[in-house]
Amino acid sequence: MARVTLRPLRPRDVPIVRRLVQLYIYDLVGQRWGVEADGTYGSARWHRRFWRRDDRHHFIVRVNGRPAGFALVRELPAVDTVPSREMAEFFVLRTYRRSGVGTRVARALFRRFPGRWELSVLTWNVIARPFWRRVIRRVAVGLAVTRARRQGDLTSLVWHFRTAAPRARRVSAGDRRKRSGDRRSRSAAAARSSA
Ligand SMILES: CC(C)(COP(=O)(O)OP(=O)(O)OC[C@H]1O[C@@H](n2cnc3c(N)ncnc32)[C@H](O)[C@@H]1OP(=O)(O)O)[C@@H](O)C(=O)NCCC(=O)NCCS
Repeated sequence: MARVTLRPLRPRDVPIVRRLVQLYIYDLVGQRWGVEADGTYGSARWHRRFWRRDDRHHFIVRVNGRPAGFALVRELPAVDTVPSREMAEFFVLRTYRRSGVGTRVARALFRRFPGRWELSVLTWNVIARPFWRRVIRRVAVGLAVTRARRQGDLTSLVWHFRTAAPRARRVSAGDRRKRSGDRRSRSAAAARSSA
């Protein structure tokens, strides 16, 4: 089985994600939008917003160590002290699709950030709609509410739902022995999470 990792962006990952972003935008809107005058997809404003650090968490996805996608989680104002976030951008390279990578990464992010979520998908995105519907059905605690949102000539389907922190697993004596053996090797991989 492929090794899928999800890791907060380090400075050396930034140029990689910049390139993946071009493929992402092309994939999403390439049939409708052209490039900017300098040949890149996405306006300068879009890229400035994407790379804002104050309220955003950027992640790179790797499959067997190779760049395979990215995710961007945006902090929203908390509601009744419950943290609230948006899954703002999410991408898996074509070659890795339909093998569960997207689902593993999404579930890892929902576990990492329990609380309220907002997630919008352009109505014409017929791949992402069934993908998110399936993932949200699995992770949402209670009801997931959907509504349509219009912005200019774009219509999106917006999901609102809540996820819970993973429950602590009961640890057996065997697990405890294994964990103490693993501790040293794990410290090097502390920042990385297996999706
Ligand atoms: C949407 C996306 C992240 C899915 O990633 P993925 O790794 O292929 O997803 P998974 O393999 O985990 O798919 C899980 C399920 O989602 C649904 N799904 C995924 N791709 C689908 C497709 N092309 N058509 C129909 N259903 C699809 C299926 O139910 C699938 O389960 P199955 O393969 O057992 O039938 C990926 O296609 C992508 O990056 N698309 C372009 C960018 C994009 O649209 N991002 C989302 C913006 S909101």
